[in-house]
Amino acid sequence: MREIRVSTLLNNYPVRIGKEILIESIDFIESIRESRRMFAIVDEKFSELHGEVLRAFFKRLKIKNDEVLKFYATERNKSVKSLELIYESLNNKGFGRDTMVLSFGGGITGDVAGFAAATYMRGIPYVNFPTTLLAAVDSSIGGKTGVNFNNVKNLIGAFYQPQAVIVETSFFTTLPAEELLCGLGEVIKYAFLFSEKLLRYLEENIQGVFALQFPIIEYLVEKSVEFKSEIVAKDEKEKGLRKILNLGHTIAHALEIEQEHKIKHGAAVIFGIVAILFISEEIGLINTQTLSNYLLIFENIKSRVKLRKIKYDKFLFLLLKDKKNRRGKIKFVLLKQVAKPIFDVDVNDSVIINSVKKTEEYFNAK
Ligand SMILES: NC(=O)c1ccc[n+]([C@@H]2O[C@H](COP(=O)([O-])OP(=O)(O)OC[C@H]3O[C@@H](n4cnc5c(N)ncnc54)[C@H](O)[C@@H]3O)[C@@H](O)[C@H]2O)c1
Repeated sequence: MREIRVSTLLNNYPVRIGKEILIESIDFIESIRESRRMFAIVDEKFSELHGEVLRAFFKRLKIKNDEVLKFYATERNKSVKSLELIYESLNNKGFGRDTMVLSFGGGITGDVAGFAAATYMRGIPYVNFPTTLLAAVDSSIGGKTGVNFNNVKNLIGAFYQPQAVIVETSFFTTLPAEELLCGLGEVIKYAFLFSEKLLRYLEENIQGVFALQFPIIEYLVEKSVEFKSEIVAKDEKEKGLRKILNLGHTIAHALEIEQEHKIKHGAAVIFGIVAILFISEEIGLINTQTLSNYLLIFENIKSRVKLRKIKYDKFLFLLLKDKKNRRGKIKFVLLKQVAKPIFDVDVNDSVIINSVKKTEEYFNAK
């Protein structure tokens, strides 16, 4: 088992990573529980796939069936309505301030359960058990919790850190390849932002993730948690530096809507990162040789990024709309080289379009 400590102003907590560590973690959970009652919020799909180990875990912790709430994880259910159901359930069952919430699921479940914990009785402790690769490498780290509102993603939320994050990697065996790709998109992002070594490692080992090679997965989760937690420790509330973690995401969001959500989030993020590399080259931050070198990492996964022909007027409209929503403050994170990102860069619309066109060609070329 690997353990990394995340230190923030709000809390200091361990992230434990390993295969078949869930039952092993019971003593640790008991030690941080301090005789609190427990309430578990569990992704419904996950619970169907991993019911046996969950039941054994809950039994050891003396968590009864009616102290487990199943949650159907969709963006639509990442809502105030779901929060109401959680608060109601907690209140009706007499859960008080001496409660600890356990969250089992991907980023949707973790964000909702974390916000419920942040707000129920002005905040009760919670432990996050991410069950998707994306949740393990990204959403479970850093304390952003919240729900969507009025069709705006994560409009209502809070920064609230868990007591611990436990990454049981055997949970990933049931993830479809496209969900693994979602997590990988973020790992590739960390590699470009922080580490040439990680980038080279990915180049060699990326297929090992799809083949569920656990040492590879664990190494990637560990490095991601390390990099993300370092940034979060420096800028917990995203006043500046933490913005670099948005690398590739502005383009990805516009693309997801332009493609009417037919492209998966992970594939869109990978597209967004490549587009950023083309933009960085187009404005002279990196040279053509360096660009080709950086693109090598995508060779083995580019066929997983399936696109319909991009409608550029719509795409640009969506980007600009986003810009308007942020009062003209949409700025890009670009790269001068690996581990040398710059943020808050204004990019000319024609440069964006040219680069996105090159990116489209790149993914369509066989
Ligand atoms: N808080 C943050 O800092 C942060 C960062 C990135 C993303 N997010 C949020 O995370 C969400 C996306 O997270 P996600 O990609 O994990 O999505 P998700 O929670 O929807 O999970 C993806 C799918 O996998 C299923 N699933 C979960 N565990 C499984 C398992 N072990 N085996 C098989 N299927 C399983 C879920 O039921 C769901 O259908 C978005 O809402 C996004 O806004 C938050």
